[in-house]
Amino acid sequence: MRLHITGVAFAIGLSFSAVTQAGGISGSNLGNTCAGCHGVNGASAGTTMPVIGGLPKSYIETAMKQYRDGSRSATVMGRIAKGYNDAQIAAMSEFFARQAWVSATQNVDANLAKLGSTIHAGNCENCHEKNGTVIAEGDAPPRLAGQWTAYLQLYMDGVNDPAWLNKHPKKGTFGKTTKSDVDAVLQFYASQK
Ligand code: HEC
Ligand code: HEC
Repeated sequence: MRLHITGVAFAIGLSFSAVTQAGGISGSNLGNTCAGCHGVNGASAGTTMPVIGGLPKSYIETAMKQYRDGSRSATVMGRIAKGYNDAQIAAMSEFFARQAWVSATQNVDANLAKLGSTIHAGNCENCHEKNGTVIAEGDAPPRLAGQWTAYLQLYMDGVNDPAWLNKHPKKGTFGKTTKSDVDAVLQFYASQK
């Protein structure tokens, strides 16, 4: 019994110190400040605001640090990320990673999606596995299936723009992907829930 109590006290001590390093604010409270754009628990309701709930912690954390140091281009995230220290970024990334992924509700062009499935299989599946549905920690790419098409479109435009900083491993070679190929592959991701 004594051992049990010590275990609980130890666990409370640990989470207390994580909160202290994050400025006394928990990951979920920090995450609330993102809700205006990324929705409740990261289930974004705005077409150009990516769904972030359920993405891997490592991906969110790395993206936030890159936005903060300016090595990842952004419209608004560069300014936002500058307001947080490493411990706060770690706490909010962990919070969002614990949420369930909620696919965007959006229209799908079924014919384009069918064409897109072939483009995906030949060019993207080797990294964006299982039709872009896989979510894994480490260096794995983010989930594409069920992400907002308008957001993915902005990312694909950025990938083809030499002045836009991003970490896509195919940056540079994506220039050969035609606009209609991109439209089709993005419809395919919208069709995957
Ligand atoms: C004013 C709206 C706004 C707020 C507030 C906001 N974001 Fe964002 N977020 C965006 C937009 C727009 C993008 C796409 C990149 C860009 O253009 O800045 C984005 C991109 C991201 C991405 C990259 C997702 C991906 O799939 O690559 C992450 C991670 C992220 N935001 C986390 C957060 C966190 C954590 C917070 C709260 C501290 C937050 N954002 C607050 C609008 C916002
Ligand atoms: C060699 C592996 C690889 C291949 C092949 C690949 N990707 Fe990616 N993709 C990644 C990685 C890694 C990221 C995360 C990059 C980052 O951090 O910005 C990514 C990110 C993305 C994103 C941004 C998602 C977001 O939430 O911000 C889009 C869109 C995307 N890829 C589309 C595609 C499409 C479409 C194809 C096929 C035409 C493709 N990728 C092929 C590895 C790959």
